[in-house]
Amino acid sequence: MGFFNSGSIERILISEDEIKSAVKEMGKKLTEDYKDKENVTVIGILKGSCVFMVDLIREIDLPITIDFMSVSSYGSGVKTSGVVKIIKDLDSNIEGKDIIIVEDILDSGKTLSYLVGLLSERNPKSIKIVTLLDKPERREVDIKPDYTCFTVPNAFVIGYGLDYDEKYRNLPYVGILSPKEYMDK
Ligand code: IMP
Ligand code: MG
Repeated sequence: MGFFNSGSIERILISEDEIKSAVKEMGKKLTEDYKDKENVTVIGILKGSCVFMVDLIREIDLPITIDFMSVSSYGSGVKTSGVVKIIKDLDSNIEGKDIIIVEDILDSGKTLSYLVGLLSERNPKSIKIVTLLDKPERREVDIKPDYTCFTVPNAFVIGYGLDYDEKYRNLPYVGILSPKEYMDK
């Protein structure tokens, strides 16, 4: 039985095709905006951005390097704890580099605001944020993504890297999780 038929997904919010063309367009935009930069590093925030990251970097037609950072802000539930824990730091030195942070979703903004502060102290030349999804209604701190593929309503979404309790990351689309999935728990 597939995920969709199991009733855990209320509906598909963004289809596989819509994601594909948005990622392609984002890659083109970044290629244009960074074509004159010499040291571009794309940083994926694990695990949520992993699917978006691998698709996006293949649409950037420039000699970039990549790195990853793993942070946790949520535990296993749907609400933010406000605490950001670094589980894996970058492997590389980002001093003097143009940094593009790749995120799955900007929700309260706490995770990214903390990360931007932390990475800024390492003296990169610039830091910009690319997010697959933006949920602006939920923002608690003043932070805006520089590049957004899709703005989404205030619902818990899953798929294309986004999880609920570590599941659903492998869905090829973004869907809305049925509230019954977390209300019964
Ligand atoms: P923020 O610190 O509240 O902006 O939360 C950022 C992180 O929370 C994201 O990188 C996601 O891992 C997770 N998150 C926030 N909203 C959702 C959602 O609707 N579905 C799945 N994960 C989410
Ligand atoms: Mg997550």
